[in-house]
Amino acid sequence: MARSGSARVWTCLAAAAATTTMLVTTVIMLSRTGFVCESLRGGEKKLRVPRCKFPLVVHVGPHKTGTTSFQRFLWMHAKWLQKEHGIFVAANNSRKEAAHIASTISKQFGGSFNPKYANSTKMAELFQVIDSMPKNCPVILSSEEFSRWHTAEWNYFKSQPAIQKRCLSMVVTHRQTWSFQASIWNQQNKQLTMQQPFLITVLREKDSYTGFQFEILDVLESVSDVVDAVSYEYLREANYSLATFVVCNATKRLEGTEWESCKMGVDLRVQRNINPFEPPTAFDVVRLAYGLYTRQKALNSTCMRSQFTLATYQNLAVSRVAEQMPTQCGNFPKEYVDELYYNRTGVLRPSRHTSEICFVDERSLELKHWELLSTLLPQGCQITTTE
Ligand SMILES: *[C@@H]1O[C@H](CO)[C@@H](O)[C@H](O)[C@H]1NC(C)=O
Ligand SMILES: *[C@@H]1O[C@H](CO)[C@@H](O)[C@H](O)[C@H]1NC(C)=O
Ligand SMILES: *[C@@H]1O[C@H](CO)[C@@H](O)[C@H](O)[C@H]1NC(C)=O
Ligand SMILES: *[C@@H]1O[C@H](CO)[C@@H](O)[C@H](O)[C@H]1NC(C)=O
Ligand SMILES: *[C@@H]1O[C@H](CO)[C@@H](O)[C@H](O)[C@H]1NC(C)=O
Ligand SMILES: *[C@@H]1O[C@H](CO)[C@@H](O)[C@H](O)[C@H]1NC(C)=O
Repeated sequence: MARSGSARVWTCLAAAAATTTMLVTTVIMLSRTGFVCESLRGGEKKLRVPRCKFPLVVHVGPHKTGTTSFQRFLWMHAKWLQKEHGIFVAANNSRKEAAHIASTISKQFGGSFNPKYANSTKMAELFQVIDSMPKNCPVILSSEEFSRWHTAEWNYFKSQPAIQKRCLSMVVTHRQTWSFQASIWNQQNKQLTMQQPFLITVLREKDSYTGFQFEILDVLESVSDVVDAVSYEYLREANYSLATFVVCNATKRLEGTEWESCKMGVDLRVQRNINPFEPPTAFDVVRLAYGLYTRQKALNSTCMRSQFTLATYQNLAVSRVAEQMPTQCGNFPKEYVDELYYNRTGVLRPSRHTSEICFVDERSLELKHWELLSTLLPQGCQITTTE
């Protein structure tokens, strides 16, 4: 089983050249239609029968791992990808078009699905489009809805004539468990139901989150010979996009200067709206500020009439206050540490690898901290020292 980190055997030879010796490591072919198709490097000694003659690269997400920006790139630059890299984007009419395949099949198999996209007519049309794309070039298909699939859904997908003719290659993004949870917690708590310290929520729900990413991996590895995992945090740290990884690494398997120039081309076209990482203390700050707000409402009629609308997401003021709070740090439970995933997949991991997490130490809060917290509240809710 070839995975990221292990030797890769991935070839895309034009059908006519399929009999070319397998020891060729780099063959660039320009067909008359202008598609560029390259054979790619295999592990030097482990070269096997080329199995990926007709690669279909399926990016499966999951949600909350930068899928939106990547899909926008695919959709806006499909023509460029075709001309420049010989890559075809299946489902290029809208950012979410590939979800029609994912959701329709999920529905068929009784899984959870997005009803907006379940449409078998539409799915059949998309399979036809994929079938009509040249067989000697890579095709990319992306939807986070694929992350909901189990083996049965994938087997059904693979049995489709359009798919049978190609070999599958999967791309999945790993996100550090706590940051994954934080982003979901953050979204859910925009409704201000945050009663519990973030730490408690994080630890209580950790199992479903740690398991979730392993389950996706299990499924993908059982249905595809090639699974490329990549770390969300690593990409951010190395300052390149998921689009670069999917196009230049997972699809074209470029190296050296070829990779550099591929990266440069993709980076130029990717819209990057990187959300800053929230420190975990930011979540506590929002909760504490909200608690303070409910108390201050009783003291000032201006405050009473105000609305508390503080979300941690991309909120610089919250992060600034969070940095000044007294903290208490602890180690994540062992199974929590994403190292298990990193070890299993061999992905490049971020250097700021968290095994420790810090929270606001509520027992050490002093008046100055409460004053700072109150600067985040609406007009009239501030703590005034003359009180
Ligand atoms: C975009 O999709 C259409 C079908 O909807 C297909 O004919 C075309 O080749 C695709 N374009 C690119 C550049 O991949
Ligand atoms: C399903 O897709 C077809 C083809 O694109 C479209 O004509 C039809 O309106 C869609 N049906 C629903 C219920 O959206
Ligand atoms: C990261 O890459 C982008 C796009 O290539 C560039 O504009 C930016 O300056 C880089 N940032 C850092 C910190 O290297
Ligand atoms: C992508 O490929 C380049 C060139 O081989 C390599 O330097 C880089 O580490 C790869 N990135 C990842 C995330 O594997
Ligand atoms: C990951 O692998 C390293 C090196 O083999 C090992 O020391 C470490 O204990 C492993 N971590 C986990 C969580 O299994
Ligand atoms: C309530 O807050 C407003 C605005 O900050 C302030 O002008 C007012 O004096 C406060 N009232 C009381 C009773 O503290």
